[in-house]
Amino acid sequence: MNAPAAPRYTRISGTGSHLPPRRVGNDELVRLLAARGVETSDAWITERTGIRARHFAADGVNASDLALHACRHALEAAGRRADEIDLIVVATSTPDMVFPATASILQAKLGVHGCPAFDLQAVCSGFVYALTVADAMIRTGGATRALVVGAEVFSRILDFDDRTTCVLFGDGAGAVVLEASDAPGILATDLHADGRHVGILCVPGTVGGGKVLGDPLLRMDGQAVFKLAVGVLEETARTVLAKAARSEADVDWLIPHQANIRIMHSTVRKLRLPPERLVVTVDEHGNTSAASVPLALDTAVRDGRIRRGDTVLLEGVGGGFTWGSVLLDL
Ligand code: UT7
Repeated sequence: MNAPAAPRYTRISGTGSHLPPRRVGNDELVRLLAARGVETSDAWITERTGIRARHFAADGVNASDLALHACRHALEAAGRRADEIDLIVVATSTPDMVFPATASILQAKLGVHGCPAFDLQAVCSGFVYALTVADAMIRTGGATRALVVGAEVFSRILDFDDRTTCVLFGDGAGAVVLEASDAPGILATDLHADGRHVGILCVPGTVGGGKVLGDPLLRMDGQAVFKLAVGVLEETARTVLAKAARSEADVDWLIPHQANIRIMHSTVRKLRLPPERLVVTVDEHGNTSAASVPLALDTAVRDGRIRRGDTVLLEGVGGGFTWGSVLLDL
């Protein structure tokens, strides 16, 4: 009789990220908006959100371009070549085209072909969704080495006459190489959606008959999103820890979706984590939607805070309404 197959796990072997070079600080944004007759202030943005700056991509630079840089950094960190990758998953809500997938465009830019490549749409929860899907595909033998990417150009869908949203978001990309492994790796995952809340955070428009139909810009009921976010981020954190038979005390680093520092501090308090275990990049990146979690992960890996073996809790929350988490040993 054959010996039973050894359990197959996944682990992150490299991280990478990329921000477009144009950094727009609050003061510059306040000036740009004032020129349109839109009133805001550095004090309001900083106090209500924790955001001091965001990056905006230049005209003609698309999500796949930001993703390409992030992937190259992740591949280098993992010691892998692009032709060793057998799965590409891109989480994005700001794809290059209606179709094909930004993942296909990215694959071509990476100079490879043949492996499955697809986009995943779960807005700001996109990266934890994508990591969960890639983890499942690798554990069931459908792939062995994946690029999992979050890439966004949210500046393209902002209404710069709406001060309640345009000060919040930025552009960027983050990526990881996820590989089959004899040991975990990813310890547990937890995903949710509640379509009753579609309207509180959406870009309601679409294309049809050669025209944009409806409103093609981001609309958000900030308070409704805020209230839901603080509840579900606590809930999914506790659920994923229970699934992995771990406790809050085991979490070395919490990387929640980077939308608002007040939501992040609330999650840390509710989970009774020491505040220094929270990774914060919202101050410099703004909300980069699906890119925010891998951007923050890569930032903390590269500055030496997160080390191999550390236990990291990733959390996403956003449009859909969607939310979820991934608990992993790096
Ligand atoms: O990516 C998915 C996850 N997204 C989020 O998690 C976003 C969640 N929501 C939030 O982060 C917050 O709700 C916001 C940052 C969007 C808004 O903060 P808030 O503390 O909920 O503010 P508010 O909507 O209650 O507005 C307070 C005041 C209002 O004025 P009045 O009615 O009190 O006179 C707004 O008109 O702040 C005003 N306001 C602004 N003032 C200056 C709203 N935006 C601005 C602005 N500058 N940019």
